Amino acid sequence: MPERSFQHILLTGGCGFIGTNFVRFVMEHRPGVRLTNLDALTYSGNGESLRDLEEDDRYRFVHGDIRDRALMDGLVRECDAVVHMAAESHVDRSIQDASPFISTNVGGTQTLLDAVRQAKTEGHDARMCYVSTDEVYGQLPLDRPDLLFREDTPIAPSSPYAASKAAGDLLCGAYHHTFGLDLVTTRCSNNFGAYQFPEKVIPLFVTNLIEGEQVPLYGDGRNVRDWLHVLDHCEAVLTVLERGTSGVAYNIGGNNERSNLELTHEILRCMGAGEEKIRNVPDRLGHDLRYAIDASKIKRELGWSPTRSAWPEALDSTVAWYRDNDSWWRRVKSGEYREYYQKMYGEPAS
Ligand code: NAD
Ligand code: DAU
Repeated sequence: MPERSFQHILLTGGCGFIGTNFVRFVMEHRPGVRLTNLDALTYSGNGESLRDLEEDDRYRFVHGDIRDRALMDGLVRECDAVVHMAAESHVDRSIQDASPFISTNVGGTQTLLDAVRQAKTEGHDARMCYVSTDEVYGQLPLDRPDLLFREDTPIAPSSPYAASKAAGDLLCGAYHHTFGLDLVTTRCSNNFGAYQFPEKVIPLFVTNLIEGEQVPLYGDGRNVRDWLHVLDHCEAVLTVLERGTSGVAYNIGGNNERSNLELTHEILRCMGAGEEKIRNVPDRLGHDLRYAIDASKIKRELGWSPTRSAWPEALDSTVAWYRDNDSWWRRVKSGEYREYYQKMYGEPAS
């Protein structure tokens, strides 16, 4: 597939963790590209993270919702590429209440697809990249390290979050097949890096330790995740957008598996904290045991592999970012998040 270049990317969810990093990555590495960031600024969207770009002519922020069809119709017509990241993204919240997940991740994705479809019928063909997740594959057993998720692994999501992302993923496939939309999909493992909302395990544990609090480890800590630096993910998404084959999904992974207990020990080491900081708390309901990615297809076909994800350096620099950006996460860890934290862990977020 020859490389495509785009003039104007519409990004949804650009004020979230990966979105913020993606905006910065595109601004730095694609100097000829303009980017419109459409975000509803839910609890996890933070306009402050990109405030410094407001004066840049190549960047525009639009405050709006992907479920607003008229708004999406207008924005899609202005762009030649759509990168769809907007979502409710936290598994624990989907266990508390699945409704916003179905509404945004399924209904919102359908609305966006209909806008892209409508534009196509009017002769305006925009390529769309759906940022899916490795969680659509469900879980792998702990005692079979030889097993990895491949792109042809059956879709079998476990949590309401994963099921809503899988529905979006399948809808994208259906719109490509039925209406001929130019559509590529990425399925990535766990990201870490700057600007991640501190409900997710790495920033939660790091900021708790900065505040002198304990870290809540679910269950026996044996569950395994594969960790990828967010900028590696951003580069991979851009690679798939520019070079991926239409209608095809690509796995993205860091080849960097850790159990949660190993991860916790690494974080304690970075922070100079001891074992007494671990607080064992009840397990997540339906907690997936292991995620592990076979990312050989994207390497073989598109030439991408991670270069920023190796530990301990990548974890150390991430921890340093949270140490250096105290005011960013302290603002985020207030408001609605306090109530959520109390409900989850039975004590107030300090
Ligand atoms: P995030 O929760 O940090 O950000 C989500 C963003 O979407 C927020 O800015 C929020 O305001 C916005 N949003 C939510 N609902 C919206 C709506 N209805 N309309 C417009 N904007 C809305 O999430 P993230 O971790 O940055 O994840 C981004 C995407 O990447 C998600 O689609 C997620 O499923 C996927 N993903 C995440 C990871 C990970 O490790 N974080 C891994 C693989 C895939
Ligand atoms: O695999 C990709 C997915 O990674 C993305 O699709 C999701 O959007 C993203 O949130 C992430 O999901 P996880 O559930 O794996 O991430 P989380 O940070 O919530 O949890 C990581 C692991 O840490 C998981 O096994 C649960 C555990 N955990 C999490 C929290 C918040 C704890 O032990 N204690 C905690 O307090």
